[in-house]
Amino acid sequence: MTPLNIVILAAGKGTRMYSNKPKVLHALAGKPLVQHVLDRATELQPQQICVVYGHGGDAVPQAMQQFAAKFVVQEPQLGTGHAVQQAMPHLADGSDTLVLYGDVPLIQHSTLHQMRQAGSGLVLLTVNFANPTGYGRIVRNEQGDVLSIVEEKDASAEQREIREVNTGILLAPTKMLRGWLSKLQNNNSQGEYYLTDIVSMAVQQGVAVHTVQPSNEWEIHGINSKSQLAVLERTWQLVEAGRLLVQGVTLADPARIDVRGKLVCGRDVEIDVGCIFNGDVSLGDNVKVGAYSFIRNSTIAAGTDIAPYSHIDSSEAGANCHIGPYARLRPGTKLHDGVHIGNFVEVKNSEIAANSKANHLSYIGDSTVGSRVNIGAGTITCNYDGANKHRTIIEDDVFIGSDTQLVAPVTVGRGSTIGAGSTITRNTPEGELSLSRSKQTTINGWKRPTKKVKGET
Ligand code: UD1
Ligand code: CA
Repeated sequence: MTPLNIVILAAGKGTRMYSNKPKVLHALAGKPLVQHVLDRATELQPQQICVVYGHGGDAVPQAMQQFAAKFVVQEPQLGTGHAVQQAMPHLADGSDTLVLYGDVPLIQHSTLHQMRQAGSGLVLLTVNFANPTGYGRIVRNEQGDVLSIVEEKDASAEQREIREVNTGILLAPTKMLRGWLSKLQNNNSQGEYYLTDIVSMAVQQGVAVHTVQPSNEWEIHGINSKSQLAVLERTWQLVEAGRLLVQGVTLADPARIDVRGKLVCGRDVEIDVGCIFNGDVSLGDNVKVGAYSFIRNSTIAAGTDIAPYSHIDSSEAGANCHIGPYARLRPGTKLHDGVHIGNFVEVKNSEIAANSKANHLSYIGDSTVGSRVNIGAGTITCNYDGANKHRTIIEDDVFIGSDTQLVAPVTVGRGSTIGAGSTITRNTPEGELSLSRSKQTTINGWKRPTKKVKGET
């Protein structure tokens, strides 16, 4: 296949977003609009990607610096043709150039692939709209061959009846594109250099003009306002939900799930309403995710049950764990099989071995916990001395009584027991009971104070 260049137009101001942030940096499905386009562009393994940006200083190149792309500024913005011209010095002849848009985020690989298969010459991505208002119209002759694109503002009443519109996305041989762009004029109703004028130039030169339609209409929707962004976000989330349903995932309500990244599910996974999946999340067979849980960059193994309102970030859970409700697993948490983490338990940067339990109101940070450990309600690992973090090691078969503080660095020896309410500052011996408590005393005959009545002394 001919080598490919990709130009992404992203210089538009986005006035209707009413935001200080460049339009293309607003997020859809948790990712800047232009990043969706750069991801699709990268998949095509092009020779060169060139992003034409305009507003917001260096915000766009800064935010997208992980991509091997050339960032070219267009200042002032004199139209789509002028925008592509800015990229041309960076594109080699002997290639094809694909023009994409930073504010048309959901263009799919299959559609772009179809365009590349369409034949030599100029390839336009077009779509038929019941209401074509605002779009450039595709003008064809009686044989159905494309003659030109006419912008709405320059179109005759008859041309405005045309339902086939220009999506803006096109593919052209780079050398020809260079020639056509150099001849653009701005003598039109908007005084702009229209990229669309290259179509009639191609026709005049006898270059074939092909048209391709996207597989889904939402692929070509552009974003100009927060309401369009919100609508496209929901459209996309329904597409994601549909994909999960087809794979056999049970969704309590496909309209109430948000996938902001990549969610991979095993068989018989059940997801209740209001869950948010961020980044790369993998759920094993039979995993259940309770309502309003948030899971980011985490792996949950088969049979694990996550009860409602749990928050799991950059963590790993083994098989058949019980997590939540209201559990918080912070980055670096690794739970082995059969672990129970209950309500209001926070775990951070800690490994908990099989079948251990922390069921109520605890903080486990920077800890290594063995198997079959029982961590009583209200247990806190005091991992921070105000300057440095220290580790707590709890060996296998330990029982920690409620309301215990483990002042790190400290090791709780295998099989040992800690009495409730203890503050443990030294290592505890294996198999023994350790506790730190002031003795309970009783003051005989003690009376509760009574409320004084006004006037009494
Ligand atoms: C353009 C097309 C129109 C098509 C429509 C689809 C032209 C002349 N018209 O019209 O046929 O139906 O898109 O949405 O191409 N941009 C720049 N620099 C500029 C101007 C625009 O980077 O100087 C970028 C914008 O950020 C935007 C895109 O190009 O992403 C389209 O620009 P816009 O002004 O919205 O074009 P339309 O008038 O909608
Ligand atoms: Ca537009």
